[in-house]
Amino acid sequence: MSRDTLFSPFQLKNFTLKNRIGVAPMTRMSSLSDSVPRQDVLDFLVRRAENNAAIVYTEAIVTDYESAQGYPGQARMTTQRQIETWQPVVRSIQQCGSIAILQMFHCGRMAWPQVNPAGRTIGPSPLTPKQNNPLTGEPYPVPDEMSRFDMQHVINGFVETAKGAVAAGFDGIEIHGAHGYLINQFLSSYCNQRTDGYGGSVENRFRFAHEIIQAVKPVVPDDRLICFRISNWGVADMEVPLYGSKDEYQQIIRLLSGEPIDAISVSTYDFTKKAFATEQNMAQLTREATDLPIMICGRIHDRTSADKALEDADIILSAKSILLNPNWVADLQAGKPMDAYASEEANVAYTDTPLP
Ligand SMILES: Cc1cc2nc3c(=O)[nH]c(=O)nc-3n(C[C@H](O)[C@H](O)[C@H](O)COP(=O)(O)O)c2cc1C
Repeated sequence: MSRDTLFSPFQLKNFTLKNRIGVAPMTRMSSLSDSVPRQDVLDFLVRRAENNAAIVYTEAIVTDYESAQGYPGQARMTTQRQIETWQPVVRSIQQCGSIAILQMFHCGRMAWPQVNPAGRTIGPSPLTPKQNNPLTGEPYPVPDEMSRFDMQHVINGFVETAKGAVAAGFDGIEIHGAHGYLINQFLSSYCNQRTDGYGGSVENRFRFAHEIIQAVKPVVPDDRLICFRISNWGVADMEVPLYGSKDEYQQIIRLLSGEPIDAISVSTYDFTKKAFATEQNMAQLTREATDLPIMICGRIHDRTSADKALEDADIILSAKSILLNPNWVADLQAGKPMDAYASEEANVAYTDTPLP
C-alpha cells in the first residue's frame, strides 16, 4: 500500500471523504436531565472536524426513555430541544468538509436501572454479563426477557432517534450492534438463549437486527448513510468471545451485507489481534465476508499502525488518540512518533474540565 492512502479521498456512498480518518463514537456522560450534552463536549467534536478528521461520530445516543440508558448523563435525539442543540454542531462539522454520523444505542442487559425512567432492565434472555458494572462495581440486574411488545418498543425508539438525526442534519446514522449491548446480545448465542424466532440459529439471532435496520431504512433519506457497528468483545464481557467461531461471525457479516447498509464498523481494542484461533485479524475476517466499506479501530496510534490498519480496511477510527490529542490527524500526517494511550488515560472523558 502506498504511504498516501491514509490521506487519499474515499468514496463512501455519495460522500467523498477527504481522508480515511474518523473520530470513533465516544460516550462522555455530560448530559443533564434534558439528555443534551455539555457545550464543551459538542465543541470538542467540532474541533476534531476543524482539525481534519473526515468523519465525526457522536457519542452513543440512547434510543428511548424506557430501558435503553446504560450510563448516567447520556444524550438522546427525540425532542425538539435535542434536535436544535445538535443542528449547529452538525453544520459546523459539515462546513469543515467532514461528515457527522449519529450512533444509536440501547444498552439492553448492561443497564443502570436508576437512570431509566421505567426502572427496568431488558434483554433477550434473563442472563447477566460476567463482569460487574464498571462504574458501580455492582453486578448488573437480571434482565426481563423481552416480549414481542418490548421489541417493538425498542424498534420504535431506533426509528424515532433516526428521524431526530435526520432532522438535525446528520449525514448518517449508525446502529450500535457491538460491545455487548442490546443488539449484540441478540446476535450472540452467549447472551441469547431464546427458543422463539429470535434465538437459536444465526438467522434467528440476526432477526432483531434485521427488523431494526428495515424499520430505520424508510426514515433515512437515500443520500444519508446507514452504518452498523460490530465487535467480538463486550464492555462487561472482555474475556468472552461473543461469537462462537469464525464461521458464525462471517455468517453474521454476510447477513449484514444483504441489508440496506453502507458500511460496517468493526470495533477491536487491538486491531492487530488474531481472532477465533485463526491467523486473521477482525478486519481480515470481515473483508473476506463482505464487499461493504469497512471501518476499523483499536490501538491505532501512529502513522505506522494507521497504515497497517488500512491494509485490511477502508477507514480508520480512533477513540483514545483523538480524544487525548486534538492535533492527532496533523501529527499522523507529519509522521510524528506517538505512543498508544492506556485505557485509564481516557477517563478524562468523564471529567467536567473541557478537553482541548
Ligand atoms: C471515552 C470512551 C468512550 C467510548 N464510548 C463509546 C461509545 O459511545 N460507542 C461505541 O461504540 N464505542 C465507544 N468507545 C469505544 C471506542 O469507540 C473504540 O471502539 C475503542 O476505544 C477502541 O479504539 P481506540 O483504541 O482508538 O481507543 C468509547 C471509548 C472511549 C475511550
